[in-house]
Amino acid sequence: LTARIKVDIERKIGGIDENLYGNFTEHLGRCIYGGLYEPGSAKADNQGFRTDVLNATKEMGVSLVRWPGGNFASGYHWMDGIGNKANRPKRKDLAWGDTESNQVGTDEFLAWSKAAKVAPYICVNLGTGSLDEARNWVEYCNAPTGLYYSDLRAANGHPEPYNVQYWGLGNEIDGPWQMGHKNAEDYSKFALEAAKLMKWSDDKIKLIASGSSNYGSGWTDWNRTVLNSLGGYVDYISLHNYVGNHDKDHYKFMASTIFAENVIKITEGLIKEATLKNKIDHPIYIAFDEYNVWYRAWNEQKLEEHYNMQDALVIASYLNCFIRNAQIVKMANLAQLVNVIAPMMVTHDTLWYQTTFYPLQLFAENCKGNSIASFVECASYKNNDKDVPYLDVSTVYNDTTKELMINVVNRHLDKGITTSITNQFGNLSNKAMVYEINSPDIMDENTVSEQKVKTKEKSINVSGNSLQYTFPAHSFTMIKIKM
Ligand code: AHR
Repeated sequence: LTARIKVDIERKIGGIDENLYGNFTEHLGRCIYGGLYEPGSAKADNQGFRTDVLNATKEMGVSLVRWPGGNFASGYHWMDGIGNKANRPKRKDLAWGDTESNQVGTDEFLAWSKAAKVAPYICVNLGTGSLDEARNWVEYCNAPTGLYYSDLRAANGHPEPYNVQYWGLGNEIDGPWQMGHKNAEDYSKFALEAAKLMKWSDDKIKLIASGSSNYGSGWTDWNRTVLNSLGGYVDYISLHNYVGNHDKDHYKFMASTIFAENVIKITEGLIKEATLKNKIDHPIYIAFDEYNVWYRAWNEQKLEEHYNMQDALVIASYLNCFIRNAQIVKMANLAQLVNVIAPMMVTHDTLWYQTTFYPLQLFAENCKGNSIASFVECASYKNNDKDVPYLDVSTVYNDTTKELMINVVNRHLDKGITTSITNQFGNLSNKAMVYEINSPDIMDENTVSEQKVKTKEKSINVSGNSLQYTFPAHSFTMIKIKM
C-alpha cells in the first residue's frame, strides 16, 4: 500500500496549548491511596508521596492534573480533607463504594502538584455540594490572608495563596450515575450561581462548565443550554469520552476516536452559536478533561486496566485528534494517572509503564508550537458504511526550534504503508529522527518485569523537500525533522 502526505507550515490550525498534555487523579481504587500517596512504601517521601510516581509524572511530561474526581467529586466536601490528619472524618464515598479516609485533601494535593510541577485543576462538588462550599474553596486556595478561609489555610501551614487557576463546575452532571444528577436547565441555573460566586471570589480563575459525557440523543441540547446559560462566565466547556474494543474488532476499535472528533466539531459549532447569540466577548474553548480506553476493568477490579499495543494506538489517535483541533481544544486530560485506567502502575516498591505511557510521553515532549494542516491521501476501509483512512495523521511545527513533527498511526493490521512525504515550501534538513511504538502482536502488554511495548528511535537520511517512509503495520510513528 502507498500513501501521500503534504505538509505546509504556513497553514496554521492553532496554537497547541500545553494543557493538551493534562491528566487526572481521582479518589478511586489505588489512584490516590496506594498510587500518588503511600506513606508505608519504600518509595515514599517524608510527606507520604511516592517519588517514583512524581518522577514518572515529570517523565511523561504531564502539564496539568485534575482532582479530586470524577464521580467522587460530586459527593466530596472539601472541609473534610483539611487540618490535622488525625481528626479528619472517614466517609463512605457513594460513587465507588470505598471508605474515604481524607488523608489526602486540598493542601496535600496542592503540595503534590507543586512537587510534580503540574498546574492543579480542582473540580468542585455541584452534585451534593453547596454554593458556599464552592466559593469558600476558592477563598481557601486563592485569597490573601485576612479572611476566614484564607486564615484557615494559613493556620494549616500555608500563608501564601496557592492561586489555583483552573476550576471545574462539577463532573458529568448530565449522567444519571452521578450524585446530584440534574437536567441541563437545573444544572445551568445552579452552576451559574456557583460560577458567579467563584469568580467574584477570584476574578483570575478559569472556569470549566460540565459539558457532555452522556451521549444519548439529547447531548447537543445539554451543551447548547449550558453554553447559553454559562457562556458569560466560563472559559471552557468539558467533554468526556471513553472507548473500548468491546466487539473484538480491530478496525472498529481503530475508528473509535472519530466519534470524539465529531463531538469536538459539533461542540465548536455550539460555542460559536452561543458566543454570537449572547454577545460573549471572551473565547470559550473545549477542555476534553476525561478520555481513555476503558472497557475491561470495572469496579470489582478497581478499574485497573492492563493496556496492550492496540490501546496505545488509540491513545495516539486521540492525541492526533486533539492536535488536529488545536484551535478549539485547549485542554485534554487522560483519565487517570496511576493504577486506575492509567499509563503507569505501581507495586509496593516498583513502578512500571503501561503501553499507553509512550505515545503520551512522545507528544508531550515534542508536539509544541502550532498544529498545521496536512493533506493525506491513502487507502481506507469501511466502518459503519464510512470510509476510515488507514493512516491517521497530525502535523506540528514548532517555530522556536524549527522542528516539524509528523505523527502517524497506521491502523492497518498487517500491511506497512509506503508514504511519500512532501514539504510544500523549503527544504528539510538532511537528517530526521524517527520514534516508533510497535510490537509484533497488537495484544502485547507490558508487565512489571517486561516492557514489550516501548518507544524505539533511529535517525534516517532526508534530501531536498521530501522523503519516503514505510509506516509499519499497527504502529505509531513520529518523524521529527528540522527545517
Ligand atoms: O475516570 C473514571 C470515571 O469515569 C470518572 O469518575 C467519571 O467522571 C467518568 O465516568
